[in-house]
Amino acid sequence: MKILLTKEELQHGVERMAKEIASVYAGHQITLVGVLTGSIVLVADLIRAIDLPMRVGVLDASSYRGATTTRGELVINSDLMLDISGRDVILVDDIFDTGHTLKKVMHKLRDFNPKSLRSAVLLRKHGREEVDYVPDFVAFNIPDEFVVGFGLDYEDMYRNLPYLAALEPADLEHHANVHRA
Ligand code: IMP
Ligand code: MG
Repeated sequence: MKILLTKEELQHGVERMAKEIASVYAGHQITLVGVLTGSIVLVADLIRAIDLPMRVGVLDASSYRGATTTRGELVINSDLMLDISGRDVILVDDIFDTGHTLKKVMHKLRDFNPKSLRSAVLLRKHGREEVDYVPDFVAFNIPDEFVVGFGLDYEDMYRNLPYLAALEPADLEHHANVHRA
């Protein structure tokens, strides 16, 4: 695997984002909502670096692909959702790739009447976006490569890597031989 961001670089990027968030919301309480599962590592580090009173929750969203549509409707499992009505909410996700996921989740969250709603992502992939929406806080811009680690997965593996790495063809072959057997 080719390492794109080291553990130290990731730590600095998350701290940078935490400071930015803390200054935007200075004097306010925030409600931070992490999108499962990719955001868990970022959320764990981010909440400990933001010096503000906060509530923390997670959101389970899945995309169902219909028979005739190429992109399924997004369904939020609200059993896990904490109440965000009247709150200053920050939605946290791992990566903004085409942007369809984040745009849809943001749209759905507005139905719960937050007082304010912004988004924060660890990564934004260069040149991939297909929507007219940009995340409010971005820790890193990365090239158009498939990345894993620090919460991001390939077939549910590699989320635990402390660094961010790009998967190369040899890695995919290795994965297929070792983890799919
Ligand atoms: P989008 O809707 O195209 O922005 O895709 C967002 C989702 O696709 C993310 O929340 C990730 O789960 C997944 N994804 C996109 N790019 C990558 C990647 O490079 N590595 C791992 N997951 C990715
Ligand atoms: Mg994912």
